[in-house]
Amino acid sequence: MSSHGAPRPMSSCKCGPLKGVANVPGDKSISHRSLILGALSVGRTHVTGLLEGTDVLDTAKAMQAFGAEVNRLGDGEWEVFGVGVGGFGEPDNVIDYGNSGTGVRLVMGAAATTPITVTYTGDASLRSRPMARITDPIALFGARSYGRQGGRLPMTVIGTGDPVPVHYVSPVPSAQVKSAVLLAGLNAPGQTVVIEKEATRDHTERMLAGFGAEISTEITDEGRVITLTGQPELTAQTITVPRDPSSAAFPVAAALLAEGSEVLVPNIGQNPTRNGLYTTLIEMGADITFENERLEGGEPIADLRVKYGPLKGVTVPPERAASMIDEFPILSAIAATAEGVTKMLGVKELRVKESDRIDAMARGLEANGVTVEETEDTFTVHGMGQGNVPGGGTCKTHLDHRIAMSFMCLGMATQKPVKIDDAGPIETSFPIFVPLMEELGAKFTKDDG
Ligand code: S3P
Repeated sequence: MSSHGAPRPMSSCKCGPLKGVANVPGDKSISHRSLILGALSVGRTHVTGLLEGTDVLDTAKAMQAFGAEVNRLGDGEWEVFGVGVGGFGEPDNVIDYGNSGTGVRLVMGAAATTPITVTYTGDASLRSRPMARITDPIALFGARSYGRQGGRLPMTVIGTGDPVPVHYVSPVPSAQVKSAVLLAGLNAPGQTVVIEKEATRDHTERMLAGFGAEISTEITDEGRVITLTGQPELTAQTITVPRDPSSAAFPVAAALLAEGSEVLVPNIGQNPTRNGLYTTLIEMGADITFENERLEGGEPIADLRVKYGPLKGVTVPPERAASMIDEFPILSAIAATAEGVTKMLGVKELRVKESDRIDAMARGLEANGVTVEETEDTFTVHGMGQGNVPGGGTCKTHLDHRIAMSFMCLGMATQKPVKIDDAGPIETSFPIFVPLMEELGAKFTKDDG
């Protein structure tokens, strides 16, 4: 079932060349952090290019519930008047975070070191996801959490008024965990240290520095050691959110899937902790050029030009997984049309995303005639070559936006249409996906169900 009403089945069928410019929405990770850090700073933070997907809108509502003033000024243009570090007030109702794991986990961290009691919940997908990865480290600061079995939402967190700084070695490669600890550390006296063995996206570190926090990262034998000095006064900022490389992955993939395509995808964030998909596609032989490389707001940006051409299967090494963790579903769809086998290693985190993404991709690809193999930590797709994927299957999207968009892209290259059971979840991260793809030349139809 869709999180926003009745399921909306949709089909995608083989289309002619895709041509044109794909202006994808703002980066989801940076959008969440702009609102949260704006709410924790003093003064007026002005944001342009904010992603207005439901995940980020839920963060805007949450920041209002904690006492910040958050106003929408126009398309993607927002302002936040913050309450300052330690200034969060107690929300007078449950915080319903819908589908957003990032939103709820970051905010659980941010609110943990303030003496307020907060109850969090979400949709069926979010209520099935593990939260112990957040409640364990915030307990070290002194926060107490009471959730359902297995550490699931709904959950009540009693924040501490007397936090101690924490030294935390993250047991999972997760930017959400790292960020939750850093945001909790903001209101603890002294230095909070997070150590991550594998580099995950570093937007929180970059943005905290931009808002005036004292934060440093040192690369050591133990991993990346991030040290934050607590109780800074964060100063409001002007933020231009770059476009999301994870959303860009879909028009890029579509251009690689639909014969004869050439698509320009401008202003895409190229942060090295996020760009593993592009490294992989180039190894597969994709014709992608990075034009106008530049820095904007501390983040590297480029315009991507993508042309259709033959692709071959590759092995994606485990150390690259974190830098493309959201892109494995679309890589799996591309891999189905490549020549040869694509192996994805070290990908067990995919099992605890909005859905179990290995299972969702495996079942959907099989329904469309593709052979796959899976273990707990790996996923292998046997590529059939361009034009050879049968299609004709219906894919369950399990309230997962990226599964929905990946199969809509696959259908552009299959012999028979590919159907998804629910396009509703696409609203969470890429509300303009359908019109943007149709404008490029995709052939989508809304089904009756
Ligand atoms: C995100 C971190 C990643 C990613 C998610 C966004 C973030 O999750 O999958 O879409 O903004 O910090 P994990 O930290 O669970 O890997």
